[in-house]
Amino acid sequence: MARRIVCLPGDGIGPEVMGEALQVLAALPLELDVVEYAFGGAAIDAYGDPLPPSTLEACLEADAVLLGAVGGPAWEGAHVRPEAGLIGLRRALDVYANLRPALGQGVDLLIVRELVGGLYYGARGTRADGTVFDTCEYHPDQVARLARRAFAIAQTRSGRLLSVDKSNVLDTSRMWRRVVSELAAEFPDVELSHGLVDSVAMGLVMDPYSFDVLVMENTFGDILSDVAAGVTGGLGLAESASLGDGGPGIFEPVHGSAPDIAGRGVANPAGMLRSLALMLGHGLGEAELARTLDAAIGVALEQAPTVDLGGEATTGEFGAMVVDEVRARLAA
Ligand code: NAD
Ligand code: IPM
Ligand code: MN
Repeated sequence: MARRIVCLPGDGIGPEVMGEALQVLAALPLELDVVEYAFGGAAIDAYGDPLPPSTLEACLEADAVLLGAVGGPAWEGAHVRPEAGLIGLRRALDVYANLRPALGQGVDLLIVRELVGGLYYGARGTRADGTVFDTCEYHPDQVARLARRAFAIAQTRSGRLLSVDKSNVLDTSRMWRRVVSELAAEFPDVELSHGLVDSVAMGLVMDPYSFDVLVMENTFGDILSDVAAGVTGGLGLAESASLGDGGPGIFEPVHGSAPDIAGRGVANPAGMLRSLALMLGHGLGEAELARTLDAAIGVALEQAPTVDLGGEATTGEFGAMVVDEVRARLAA
């Protein structure tokens, strides 16, 4: 039976980079049913809802969800925001483990970001005096399930795991450190260390080569994954996989809708295509095809770099080179 991929192009450069992902998908020897649904700002415009029920239902029933990016100036400050659709979808699919590799310029690290808790999902509101608050909340079980995933990933890499927190200040961080530390006994082959988020941020800029697997809460992971993307050459390169336990994962680049370059055909589709490779590996169990695609992206990065990397290739030219390389490798 054909496997079902729900594709959510979203806003800004989302549809532009998604277009290249669909070209690559079409070149693969897989029986797939690829269906597109409205999401983000585009869905607000069409349905008044960034995550319409039809989109959510399709995602829940999919084998994997491929996402471009959402957001943009058109919806900023509005009551209903595109980003709320993404926050809602992550929670609905319970994709708590967000893998954000950073690869390039001699850097090869992996951020494991908690994705369905913390500041994004805690109590929020406005007090009578006008004070506005968002709350960072975690249950120890939420930390434990993510930490287990991170330990298991560390076992497949260098065997080192760095847990990032702000335990010198925050209660959630002290609990985080305790829960992660307690789990270490289950993974005696992994060397666990802890770091405070501020100094880890500096370390990522000064010496990104020394890091391997890092695990952290939602907001820290959002910020540090952009830092990690930056030291490998930019946001156009960074991919991510958001995984739960068994249900469909969401595969999306780390970057946003890039309104400053949208509509010009110059966005780098590498982050999107690397996310597609993660989908092949983690979402469809096609590890060999994932390796083929990653290798093809590597060739395109060498031979047809986009403007953000100092080259001249358009989004379409980069994508076409990846498709050609994939075809050549599959035929060999
Ligand atoms: P952004 O990631 O969209 O862009 C930051 C900078 O990186 C911009 O200069 C942009 O041109 C550049 N850039 C990003 N992706 C690129 C690519 N593929 N190729 C070349 N250059 C690229 O971040 P932002 O400008 O802060 O946010 C814009 C909008 O995107 C906001 O509405 C934000 O909420 C949203 N956003 C969405 C997601 C998502 O859907 N997952 C992620 C981040 C931001
Ligand atoms: C990301 C984005 C999202 C996040 C926004 C758009 C909700 O910045 O995926 O990194 O903060 O998680
Ligand atoms: Mn982000």
